[in-house]
Amino acid sequence: MRLALGLDLGTSGLKAVALDEQGRKVAEAKATYPLHTPRPGWTEQEPQDWLRAAREALKALREKLGEAEVVGLGLSGQMHGAVFLDRAGQPLAPAPLWNDQRTAEEVAQIEAALPQRELIRRTGNPAVTGFQLPKLLWLRNHSPELFRRLYKVLLPKDYLAFALTGAWASEYSDASGVGALNLAEKRWDSEILHSLGLEEGLFPELGPSERVVGTLRPEWARETGLPAGLPVVAGAGDNAAAALGLGVSRHRKGVGSVSLGTSGVIFIPLEVPTPEPEGRVHLFAHADGGYHLLGVTLSAAGSLEWLRGLFPEVSLETLLAEAEAAPLGSEGLLFLPFLAGERSPYLNPHLRGAFVGLSLAHKRGHLVRSVLEGVALSLGEVYQVMRPLAEVQRLLATGGGAASDLWLSLLSGALGVPVVRVSGDEGAARGAGILALVGAGVYLDVAQALQATTPAELSSPLPQPGIEAYRLGYARAVEKVIELHKGC
Ligand code: XUL
Repeated sequence: MRLALGLDLGTSGLKAVALDEQGRKVAEAKATYPLHTPRPGWTEQEPQDWLRAAREALKALREKLGEAEVVGLGLSGQMHGAVFLDRAGQPLAPAPLWNDQRTAEEVAQIEAALPQRELIRRTGNPAVTGFQLPKLLWLRNHSPELFRRLYKVLLPKDYLAFALTGAWASEYSDASGVGALNLAEKRWDSEILHSLGLEEGLFPELGPSERVVGTLRPEWARETGLPAGLPVVAGAGDNAAAALGLGVSRHRKGVGSVSLGTSGVIFIPLEVPTPEPEGRVHLFAHADGGYHLLGVTLSAAGSLEWLRGLFPEVSLETLLAEAEAAPLGSEGLLFLPFLAGERSPYLNPHLRGAFVGLSLAHKRGHLVRSVLEGVALSLGEVYQVMRPLAEVQRLLATGGGAASDLWLSLLSGALGVPVVRVSGDEGAARGAGILALVGAGVYLDVAQALQATTPAELSSPLPQPGIEAYRLGYARAVEKVIELHKGC
């Protein structure tokens, strides 16, 4: 049996899976690492912690596989982070992550150097605090000494590829989250970089997702039990990899995905790079050679987790049953899920959440229900912005929140689109493994691999009728909160 490995370097931990040629999971292993928040709004991880976790998970996975032949390893990971490396490949500092908010001044610096429309036209996105480019400027502004020693800046999973193989390489899907990739031409945009006084040589070489960037170094082979010389495939940013795992690509028209994880994400493939004119949703390269729109509600299941944390003695099942018993519309209670600021469609890291319309009649179940409804309505707003660019017939559901029938039916009602579960969802690690099957030559190309590995669709809960009636009220409440916030 020939197997490919897929590894996803997430924010709370790393997951490695072994897939057979049909993309079925044969085994998995996980390892965790800490997230550091040294100051409010800062989030960092130690790149060395990722390497330790990768060693641990790959070794555990290899042990579970017995004599099976492993033909390739593909990578996926959290996007947008910055690993600052010296010429010897040693990290110069902890890596700021995708949700780090320290770069407001650097975003203004980028906007002063380039008109926003021009940036959106070239890269598909405006300047965003979480992206890698402002982090690089932050290092230059705040630690000029470290910046002088900087040889390359890598994305998290590309740093792992460097450690595994010695190659300084990236691929288009993750690179499009840096903020300096010319999307139509798929090259680092030298005009953008020069306008900021940055050299193109600071960034790694680019290629497609299924490209073999190098082979496993002997020391990694010794430590993990995997064969030295194993092909390591560039892989994809976590959203693109997760989409491939679901079989969502430009080769399958009218199908996108919606994830109810910590954040809520709508992913819609596109054939050509068509940015939302105001940059209210992201446009990135997909791992299938095309492109995709990405809309993000930052606190989706994260909002439910927050509420659940306030009632530690009550199980999630009980809370969801109470929500089910409360009426549609939560008797006038609206929840705005901006607990960690918001990306789409407002791009405002300082926005904050709210319960609007609380009364003495409201019980715990109303609060839970309004969180589910508020997240669904928020993703509804995101889809409204995406729809003129790419309409879908259905969205495949993924993420922890997709286990709730109530939540999926609210989501489906708020979006006006069927939301469908699939069998055996393994997230981004599965997509990375599928790319490894291509890189290792088991399939000719990504389209052929997807034909063989796309998971079956299951039946979907019926859309909750009536939720769309709350859209207007929700949008008005958001406007008021934005206004209030301006006054603060
Ligand atoms: C996408 C994004 C997150 C990260 C972390 O723009 O910021 O999905 O990739 O998983």
